[in-house]
Amino acid sequence: KASRASRKDDHVRLASAQQTEGPRRTDFDDLEFVHHALSGTNPELVDLSVELGEWTWPTPFYVNGMTGGTETTAKINRDLAIAAAETGLPMACGSMSVALEDAEAAKGFTVIREENPDGFVMGNLGAGRSADDARRAVELLNADALQLHINPVQETAMPEGTRDFSTWLSGLEDIVAACPVPVVVKEVGFGLSRRTLQLLADIGVQYADVSGAGGTDFLRIENDRSPAEDFSMLTGFGQSALACLLDAPSEWTTETTMDDGVSNRVLLASGGVRNPYDVVKALACGARAVGVAGTFLQTVLDHGPGGLVELVRTWQTQTSALFALLGAQRSTDLTATDLLTRGRLGEFARLRGIDVTALSHRSDVL
Ligand code: FNR
Repeated sequence: KASRASRKDDHVRLASAQQTEGPRRTDFDDLEFVHHALSGTNPELVDLSVELGEWTWPTPFYVNGMTGGTETTAKINRDLAIAAAETGLPMACGSMSVALEDAEAAKGFTVIREENPDGFVMGNLGAGRSADDARRAVELLNADALQLHINPVQETAMPEGTRDFSTWLSGLEDIVAACPVPVVVKEVGFGLSRRTLQLLADIGVQYADVSGAGGTDFLRIENDRSPAEDFSMLTGFGQSALACLLDAPSEWTTETTMDDGVSNRVLLASGGVRNPYDVVKALACGARAVGVAGTFLQTVLDHGPGGLVELVRTWQTQTSALFALLGAQRSTDLTATDLLTRGRLGEFARLRGIDVTALSHRSDVL
């Protein structure tokens, strides 16, 4: 247990160290909009709220799952929850497995509900847990949804990690069937491929967060924690959020009729989101909302909950301004913007047979 507690603190410390390293080029920089100078609208007409199946969120971005279970991380959850309550931001916590075994550790998670009794809160567990664990995690937080992370790259690089992934898919299926609230399946920064998203749809998953590469790098975090078991040979493994969105099967990006009538599968994106322009780019590629972990973590570490409230307000204003510039009143309007995919992202798209010319002419069909 001691090692699990210190792991949580290590993750925060090492993720934060990555945040302070300064800018680096990511796939977000490889995506551009064709500029149409007379197609803009008025920011006052912009509605930032997004509909995700049965949920309506006030903003198209949210606090992604990070932490909890130690004294330091309980304070971080408290600060994040205060800011989420103040701004209406949906929020997830980090993996709750420790909370299911240790009442003291559980307080570092339940603080989120105490600070934000009416907000949208997501619990979090890893693949490989039981359906009963999932029910207990939801209960503990009175959670509106449960994030289930699938993190095989991280587990591979983590000395205490599991290396047997053979039962994850069937385990997920059990949880999805038994969970009293919707399950959001997510990666932790290596992306969900087209095939993975198809498998998730097959087992009835309705919400997925591709959580791609380019932001917080858990391969590096685990290598830094245990240099003796170095997996840095895998550096660069996985796909970025934008690559995953472009590659996603159409059942995740277009309206489809399912057994229970007309409903949408909801594709979320995260991984390396630094600013509102990154948010808008992910929305334009089909994400219905965008998760932010490392950037918001660093803000509460440096400036506390008030600092995050201020940042969220700035992001809201700037996101509206960007919508207006691109002629979008609602986030779904952004899927008719013309996209140029350059560099690494463009190469990925070509290698996967994605029609990049069609992407750059989406407004023609209007
Ligand atoms: C994470 N992330 C994460 N995800 C998850 O599902 N369960 C978890 O327990 C954690 N723990 C965690 C700790 C810390 C300190 C960070 C920064 C992140 C992963 C997170 O939700 C996200 O998928 C990735 O961090 C990529 O997003 P960013 O950080 O690039 O915005």
